[in-house]
Amino acid sequence: MELSVNLGARSYPIVLGRLGQLGVRLARERAPGRCVLVSNEVVAPLYAQTALASLEGAGFEPTLVQIPDGEANKTLATWQGLVARLLELGVDRQTTLVSLGGGVTGDIVGFAASSTLRGLSFVQVPTTLLAMVDASVGGKTGVNTPQGKNLVGAFYQPILVLAAMDTLATLSPEEFRCGLGEVLKHAVLEGPDFFEWLACNAQAVLAQEPGVLEQAIARCCAYKAEIVAQDEREGGIRALLNCGHTLGHALERELGFGSLRHGEAVAIGIIGEAAICVARGHAPTAWLEALRTLTMALGLPIQAPGHLRVSAIVQSTRHDKKRAHGILTAALPAGPGRVTLSAVTPAELSVAAQAILPPEAECPS
Ligand SMILES: NC(=O)c1ccc[n+]([C@@H]2O[C@H](COP(=O)([O-])OP(=O)(O)OC[C@H]3O[C@@H](n4cnc5c(N)ncnc54)[C@H](O)[C@@H]3O)[C@@H](O)[C@H]2O)c1
Ligand SMILES: [Zn+2]
Repeated sequence: MELSVNLGARSYPIVLGRLGQLGVRLARERAPGRCVLVSNEVVAPLYAQTALASLEGAGFEPTLVQIPDGEANKTLATWQGLVARLLELGVDRQTTLVSLGGGVTGDIVGFAASSTLRGLSFVQVPTTLLAMVDASVGGKTGVNTPQGKNLVGAFYQPILVLAAMDTLATLSPEEFRCGLGEVLKHAVLEGPDFFEWLACNAQAVLAQEPGVLEQAIARCCAYKAEIVAQDEREGGIRALLNCGHTLGHALERELGFGSLRHGEAVAIGIIGEAAICVARGHAPTAWLEALRTLTMALGLPIQAPGHLRVSAIVQSTRHDKKRAHGILTAALPAGPGRVTLSAVTPAELSVAAQAILPPEAECPS
């Protein structure tokens, strides 16, 4: 299956396929020549050989470079090490970088591509569900700094995205579910069709039935591609993609990044942010119930750990990157396809936090 991101001269295809197609598919975008395959220490042992063989088979001359794995290594130091290695290898403006891995690898390689020799062509080969439905599409690249996540980077579009669906077989169930949090987000954003389809097919998606999973990924990519085509640099509607993230990031910050997986935090965040819509009278309580039902069907949590306090969650939103002039704007879901950007008050954030915490244990009388 093939989709595209329409950005004029910088348009590119998103191919849902197999890793073995990489060489042939890339040869349709670039005349075969030198390329550097960048992967990490977890994914390279599993898939680098297949990727290299595919590139060589299509006439490319690939070199493999490995970078460290994990969010903790999504740093300026890793970026610097990668750029230094590329320069040592003598890359030139005709060299293509190919990222093989999850969102962390894709974000680092994309940033290295944007900055090395003022811009090398790059290809995203996402191998996690989250990277297939979200991180690999749209051209946001970058690294974390001690000051926060993704604070240094660039908007830099790939020339091709090849979602290597056959690599999902080795992804852990936890990482797979994490991607489902972003699938849920896309279904909420896109509208009733996708939301109801996902509700009907949740079991099949969770069981990774190939045809159904491919449809889910394609619908997410199509939606994201459409938004990116309209608002590449997040001047407006691209901010809708932050649905569930205002509260989700607050939970991640409170608990320490990594203790609640990002996709889980987003799913819980969507529920809390929907509760604000209900409190405003913009959505019926049945919407909240429908959301909770689908979230559970996807194997995702609907509540944050009980030891968190409402006040701590509200306080944590003060560190949100999207806060401007003291006002926090969130992408509030009032229903499928009814997500709008709106300023939220601390009192409303309390409502959201209450909706995602277990009810207070009753005091024995
Ligand atoms: N650029 C964007 O628009 C965008 C959007 C969303 C998220 N992100 C970023 O994406 C990152 C999260 O991405 P992620 O969830 O893919 O995490 P990740 O890249 O850390 O991958 C998760 C783990 O799975 C391993 N892995 C990857 N593919 C595998 C496979 N096929 N089999 C076995 N193991 C595999 C990875 O090596 C890693 O250990 C975050 O840094 C986030 O900021 C970026
Ligand atoms: Zn996210």
